[in-house]
Amino acid sequence: MQLSDAGLLKTDLFIGGRWSPSNARYDVIDPATGQTIAEVARATEESVDAAVTAAQVAQRKWRDTTATQRRDALAGLADALLAHEADLAAILTAEQGKPLAEAAGEIRYAAGFFRWFAEEARRVYGETIPAHRPDARLLVQRQPVGVGAAITPWNFPSAMIARKLAPAIAAGCALVLKPAEDTPLSALALAELVARADIPSGLFSVVAGNRDDASRLGTALCLDPRIRKLSFTGSTRVGKLLLEQCASTVKRVSLELGGNAPFIVFDDADLEAAIDGVMVCKFRNSGQTCVSANRIYVQAGVYDEFTSRLHERIDALVVGPGADAGSTIGPLITTAALKKVEQHVTDARSQGAKLITGGKPHQRGGTFFVPTLLTDVPDSSLMHSEETFGPAAGLTPFNTEAEVVQAANDTPYGLAAYFFTTDLARSWRVSENLESGMVGVNTGLISTPEAPFGGVKESGLGREGSRHGLDEWTDIKYVCVGGLGQ
Ligand code: SIN
Repeated sequence: MQLSDAGLLKTDLFIGGRWSPSNARYDVIDPATGQTIAEVARATEESVDAAVTAAQVAQRKWRDTTATQRRDALAGLADALLAHEADLAAILTAEQGKPLAEAAGEIRYAAGFFRWFAEEARRVYGETIPAHRPDARLLVQRQPVGVGAAITPWNFPSAMIARKLAPAIAAGCALVLKPAEDTPLSALALAELVARADIPSGLFSVVAGNRDDASRLGTALCLDPRIRKLSFTGSTRVGKLLLEQCASTVKRVSLELGGNAPFIVFDDADLEAAIDGVMVCKFRNSGQTCVSANRIYVQAGVYDEFTSRLHERIDALVVGPGADAGSTIGPLITTAALKKVEQHVTDARSQGAKLITGGKPHQRGGTFFVPTLLTDVPDSSLMHSEETFGPAAGLTPFNTEAEVVQAANDTPYGLAAYFFTTDLARSWRVSENLESGMVGVNTGLISTPEAPFGGVKESGLGREGSRHGLDEWTDIKYVCVGGLGQ
């Protein structure tokens, strides 16, 4: 990995504003080559304790800063990310695998959260309420929740941290981060930028660890009574466990969990736009996003044409290491991820789905998978009940709007949903009837710092991004001032 600022490649823990080495280390693997790219220090429960102690001290000072100071700190971080975009993207691609252009896009997306919450830091408004008696005045203040913890995923190793850290800092909170086992280097590079910024030591700490450490570190964060909020992005299974653990100290909890996004193409859709939409929605990050199109329903009148046009576009994707210019589909994160995609394809075919292209590991070996298209995927298949999290698109025909909305909602998940239509009345009706926290109408790309990201049903609790994302890091305090006379 060639970096112009080699100081961004950090491998120790970042606790209380200091780099903290450890003899216990684990290998971080480049998924494109299977080679070790770094040996990162493993945190223990003691590391978590030290990070929380430092966070408490820092937060007590930080909560008393002005909104303008917090704005300046966040704007500085946004600038720092953009100034180091190429290096941060190279680190991200090396540990996560996505094509460099996508990695650079993620760094800009991450910077966007720091920029957005820099601006929002100055808008943490309270309220006055008409009082219930003449001698009183009723006020509502928003105060920082205190020390927070975040557990972040490997699929967006930079942006998912920014989406949590930026509102925490804006609100006056501190954050202890446990990054994904597979992608700690992006988190540690961000910590280095925080260390260089005008932000108090201890306000942000990073406690990394491998798969064996994950549940111990997660438990330590959930059970620590000094941590008042947990923000997690990851699977619904792990989210439920963390929620249970957080109950013991009644923490605030934000959960961005699994999805099973329906993507619906009506007969009256602009087909070119729908194909662009499904390409970005299904194949961005090799299909490894929580908001990926998972069940693609296409109305009978355009089914054959949509299939053949999508087939052409899928065959034009270029599979290769993310660091190679021209690659548009990188490797999957692990062998287990590859096996899951294979299993979904095999299961769909065994239930009558037709393979149009792909359907197998790529000849490059490792965790590369050939971009895949299947048709006639039945609702009983694994592709419809679980996130495939890979570059395999499965189409299912439908006849009526009522039938497809019912099928789309027939899942315990409700993160994102998409549909394409040129009928104005239908665009309102369907978006209102879909049971989902986010809906893309005539677009397959909905993520942006200005908008509230999050799900309903078993896809999560709370929202990230937007002004609502800041509310998640504040508590409401009601103040009743009495004895004021008439
Ligand atoms: C995710 O997959 O959790 C995040 C995707 C996004 O922000 O677009």
